Amino acid sequence: MKNIAIFASGSGSNFQAIVNAGKSGVLVGNISLVVCDKAGARVIERANEAGVETFVFSPKNFESKADFEREILQELIDKEIDLIVLAGYMRLIGETLLQAYQGRIINIHPSLLPAFPGKHAIHQAIDKGVKITGVTVHFVDEGMDTGPIIAQRAIEIEEHDHIEDVEKKIHEIEHELYPTTINYVLHHHLQ
Ligand code: GRF
Repeated sequence: MKNIAIFASGSGSNFQAIVNAGKSGVLVGNISLVVCDKAGARVIERANEAGVETFVFSPKNFESKADFEREILQELIDKEIDLIVLAGYMRLIGETLLQAYQGRIINIHPSLLPAFPGKHAIHQAIDKGVKITGVTVHFVDEGMDTGPIIAQRAIEIEEHDHIEDVEKKIHEIEHELYPTTINYVLHHHLQ
């Protein structure tokens, strides 16, 4: 089985969904590592509960992105990681990791890209008054949410929906879509 590293900065509900898919035998990869750039993030607790090793670092302790990405890369090599899965990792991936893992880094984004890239995608969609939004899984390149699209799912924004309602619909879709798309990528792109 291929080894997966999940990068996250926050709650880690997508991490949890991937772990649960692993437990129920749906996932065709091993979740071997969590990389987190925020001490105290909920995802670290979740990783501990799931028995997944963590690499937690503080970017401010490094002079540059290249410096901390070199440390991350060493961890990835040590753990023989095949695929990097970004799940709420709130940083752009730099040259060091992009070069080492070209075509082997994926991200999930809460909009139908190329609409609403960047932060606060759900807010942006609501502010714009769109009636349909959704979730995108894509390969990562040097841009912000710009790489080739792998999978998308749509949801409706209804008249009476508050931000929390839309967030809930988006998360439900994400938790289903990410594990199945990881399987797809492992099958079709990493053989
Ligand atoms: C998700 O909505 C994902 O689309 C975005 O960041 C959020 C992460 O949520 N990139 P969680 O930490 O997995 O709960």
